[in-house]
Amino acid sequence: MKLTTEEKEMLAGSQGPGCQLSMEILVEVGEIFNAPYLIPVRSAHIVISNYKNCFEAGIEILEKFAFLQSKASIPTTVDPAGIDLERWKELGMPQDYAEKEWRIGLAVKKLDFIPCWTCTPYLCGQVPKVGDHLAWTESSAVIFANSILGARTNRETGGLDVACAIAGRTPYHGLHLDENRKGQVLIDVEIENMTREHFITLGYFMGLQAGTKIPVIEGIGRNSPLENYIGMGAASAASGGVALYHIVGITPEAPSLKMAFGQTSIPKPIPFGVKELKETKTKMCTAIPGAIDAVMVGCPHYTVAEIRELAKLLNMQKISPRVKFWIYTYKNNILLAQRLGYKEIIEKAGGEFIADTCMIVSHTELYGFKQIMTDSGKCAHYAPTEVQAGVAFGSIEECVKAAIIGEWRG
Ligand code: F3S
Repeated sequence: MKLTTEEKEMLAGSQGPGCQLSMEILVEVGEIFNAPYLIPVRSAHIVISNYKNCFEAGIEILEKFAFLQSKASIPTTVDPAGIDLERWKELGMPQDYAEKEWRIGLAVKKLDFIPCWTCTPYLCGQVPKVGDHLAWTESSAVIFANSILGARTNRETGGLDVACAIAGRTPYHGLHLDENRKGQVLIDVEIENMTREHFITLGYFMGLQAGTKIPVIEGIGRNSPLENYIGMGAASAASGGVALYHIVGITPEAPSLKMAFGQTSIPKPIPFGVKELKETKTKMCTAIPGAIDAVMVGCPHYTVAEIRELAKLLNMQKISPRVKFWIYTYKNNILLAQRLGYKEIIEKAGGEFIADTCMIVSHTELYGFKQIMTDSGKCAHYAPTEVQAGVAFGSIEECVKAAIIGEWRG
């Protein structure tokens, strides 16, 4: 791999042992991928942020870099922690688990990472520009950065992301290169007036169809709220391994269908109509119609606009006392919801906000829920194993209805 003079010096230890170790990792990984050189990145997003994902080995990686007195050389945000860092005890998380999270938190602080504890770094000040190279983990954030913001990042892995944050570089391969960003699969949406639930179901369908290929979507309008793309991308990155999709006229590098596919010929379209919508929704539901124990929303973390919609639906309503209604979001969004009066409305109805974490990366299985409901495609995909419960997927309206009557009617 070709290194600049500065990089050779970093590799020789000119910027301290932490940076030296980071460079050793980057060069080794780069060589595995045949990367010709390292590319400077504007920001990093780290997934070694909770014990459930990173275990002891992940904590040791962070602590090792902290011990070597390393610091992030670029703005570096962190994914959700495994607990609500303030309310963990009240929420029934065990002390020994919380202690592991504190070790992660302490190392994150020493490394000068931004402790936002959210999977939506682009909503808390980490906003890349078109063409920016990044080193992000977190599949839902990666796909949003690539597809909507027009930035360039691979789905980095935990550990490598830390090295990228410290050295400020990543191996130049995969989605950093023009030729690897062209469409490979065409999806033709036949449904008019797509709702958020439709977008998310489309995302799930797209992941199943495309796997790790790059889908191009035709037939969806350009005026949807941001949250539709966030939810759709997260679902496709979970059901498949999609890291980039193109929507003609939205994805910056896809002003036309021809440009989205580059030099390659346009493949036969895969239809997404009412039949596919119904079949996919059925696949996403593993619950059986009947009582539910909890509704969990906020995967990816709920935005203020989503909290607002929920407050409207829950205004003057009462959630069944048998049902927990948990909203996962970025800490600052809770503060805004409080200032706007939405928090009070939601809490009055029986809903509860949980910050810093989510239903998948915290030990939600400890609650022993048998069936849950969600409006998230990503949660629907992972909850059967991570929450160890049957999952019903539906729109936020359907989630609210089920929470009030205490059951999901299929
Ligand atoms: Fe975020 Fe957790 Fe979902 S990290 S995307 S809320 S699984």
